[in-house]
Amino acid sequence: MPSLNIAEVRENFKNSLASAKNIQELEEVRIKYSGKKGELTLLLRSLGNLPKDERKEAGIKLNELRDEFEKDIELTSKKLRDSENEQLEINERIDVTLPAKNNLNGTFHPVVQTMHEIANIMQGLGYSVATGPELEEDFYNFEALNIPKWHPARDMQDTFYLPDGKLLRTHTSPVQVHAMLEFGAPLRIICPGKVYRRDNDTTHSPMFNQMEGLLIDKDVPFSVLKGTMSEMLNAFFGRKLNYRFRASYFPFTEPSMELDIECVKCSGHDENCRVCHGTGWLEVAGMGMVHPNVIRAGKIDPEIYNGFAFGIGLDRMAMLKYGINDLRLLFDGDVSFLLSGF
Ligand code: DAH
Repeated sequence: MPSLNIAEVRENFKNSLASAKNIQELEEVRIKYSGKKGELTLLLRSLGNLPKDERKEAGIKLNELRDEFEKDIELTSKKLRDSENEQLEINERIDVTLPAKNNLNGTFHPVVQTMHEIANIMQGLGYSVATGPELEEDFYNFEALNIPKWHPARDMQDTFYLPDGKLLRTHTSPVQVHAMLEFGAPLRIICPGKVYRRDNDTTHSPMFNQMEGLLIDKDVPFSVLKGTMSEMLNAFFGRKLNYRFRASYFPFTEPSMELDIECVKCSGHDENCRVCHGTGWLEVAGMGMVHPNVIRAGKIDPEIYNGFAFGIGLDRMAMLKYGINDLRLLFDGDVSFLLSGF
């Protein structure tokens, strides 16, 4: 075997190695030299054809060459792998300083949240949630609530009537009667739900949300009503508020009151306050001791039982708590009200 041949193979090998740009090309180089039919393999195989005296020396040289090839291949392979990894790292690098994608989570509507919050508070005071139909009969919406046909109080509420004489309930108070008839006394319920009136301007919507409360028991004092209301509203707004109970009139309660809370925005310190208009007070609920006629309509004996009732506007509560300044926003179907953040 001419020594020139070995030198030539080595040089060619080194050149091919230097031009291998990736692992795949390197593998091709390996096969070209050390594969089954590789140049080096063929040389090694041809050793047997050499005259004996040349065979030994050529064998040593070829084995050295093979070791050298293997080492070179390994080194080059490591270099290529390292640079491929480096490239991969550069290409797939994650920029942790990029602003995160806005993850839009759905939530309950503020009015529904308000309803859940108040219901939770009231359940903590032993009240259960009761519901009634939105399509009501005159009896439950008016008659049983001590509002007979001739009663001027009917003018207080503009009602949606259906041709069959039924109506869309104008308040959640009729659920008081349904609940008394269904469960009897003693009774502690709240009734959240939609109510309807023929009203539509910036501060009134033909559909809005109320929550009724009713407690019927023996010897219920007026002070429990006051305590219940302040307890509920303090818990809802998360702080101790000032209260003002004003004498009022509702046919279904006697005596009747309206409850004002201190303005949750300015606490009475801003005469230009857009929430309380400088009065310092916000009207939040109607209430009173349940009229004996109403208890009787619920088939409970008013000589044995008495109690109190209240009604609050859930939309107004939601607006006050979440700083929403236009009632219509609540019913416009604006999805941003359903995104997290409320
Ligand atoms: N039903 C009344 C309304 O819609 C609110 C109300 C006032 C409810 C006094 C009551 C109550 O239970 O005792 O304006």
